[in-house]
Amino acid sequence: MSHPTQAGPQKARAEIRMPIAMLAELTHRCPLACPYCSNPTELVRRDEELSGREWADVLRQAAGLGVLHVALSGGEPAARRDLEEIVAACRDASLYSNLITSGIGLTERRLRDLKSNGLDHVQLSVQGAEPTSADRFGGYRGGFERKMAVASWIRDNDLPLTINVVMHRQNIDSIEDVLALAIDLGARRIEIATVQFHGWAEKNRGALMPSREQVLRAGLTVQAARERLKGTMVVDYVPADYYATWPKACMGGWASTSLNVAPDGFVLPCHAAGSIPGLVFENVRDRALADIWRNGAAFNAFRGETWMREPCGSCERRSVDFGGCRCQAFALTGNASATDPACSKSPLHARLVASANAQAASGQSDFIYRRMA
Ligand code: SF4
Ligand code: FES
Repeated sequence: MSHPTQAGPQKARAEIRMPIAMLAELTHRCPLACPYCSNPTELVRRDEELSGREWADVLRQAAGLGVLHVALSGGEPAARRDLEEIVAACRDASLYSNLITSGIGLTERRLRDLKSNGLDHVQLSVQGAEPTSADRFGGYRGGFERKMAVASWIRDNDLPLTINVVMHRQNIDSIEDVLALAIDLGARRIEIATVQFHGWAEKNRGALMPSREQVLRAGLTVQAARERLKGTMVVDYVPADYYATWPKACMGGWASTSLNVAPDGFVLPCHAAGSIPGLVFENVRDRALADIWRNGAAFNAFRGETWMREPCGSCERRSVDFGGCRCQAFALTGNASATDPACSKSPLHARLVASANAQAASGQSDFIYRRMA
């Protein structure tokens, strides 16, 4: 056990299931500068990235471990010139490949090549439903128009399309417009995620935090859209948890179904786990993926339920939400073993709600944009 101050000694080793999904963060490089970027504040440099050959090996190991589905993400994965070979390596390992992209860096030709190399699905991010504000949120002029072109090439290549959008105080009232855009673009699915405050996004809480009223309205809009669009488009929704009664079941439970490989080969139980000090992460350059999954110290730190303290330890919901998000618990309490303050049973819940209300009412609108140094 590598992490005694956060998790305490393991009483008994939790049951280890095999992962079914892997997030492959191919690069942190990105042309956009979104203020809600959840990547860490310290980004991996290009010369530290795994090579295409190393990724192919990781993908084979992942398939051997039971992974079925790989999300190729970043940063912007199209910033890698060898993306086409990495997609082919997914196909060769019989992995379902899902490209998560801003679209910037993709051309019609590249999409054709990705399709012929076996790409199964594309998730295209948009920052809003109209160009002026969308380009402001992404910090990239002309981005919206480019994304519209990319969506048409995705359609022309018969690739299934999901539209991703992050909602925050400055765009959450336009969910209906975003839904209409996604239908126009031929998306089969839309993923509407309320901003999560990890990594860079922390710096922009004041400008991004939606109000309770906005969050309630958004929930009703999504509910109505799900009914209306049944059979046309699937509407997935990640609600804000800061005003909720119960926290989200982050990652479906720590180290239970999926893993992340960072651009430099470090293997993490979740996207933001690097923000928890004291956790020891292993690298695929030094150790086999299966060994890291089963025996890695960071993976066993919060696996199962034995690490939980009160009120989670004796709570009837502990196998429903797993105590919430470890990274959020650390960010808000300084202790990754604490109950996530998004939970109404947390002694810090009232303080979280009060501070969310204050941030939502701040009137702040300027962003601190994310730019790679
Ligand atoms: Fe979930 Fe812990 Fe809250 Fe119970 S006390 S609902 S297990 S976060
Ligand atoms: Fe790390 Fe939730 S983002 S556990």
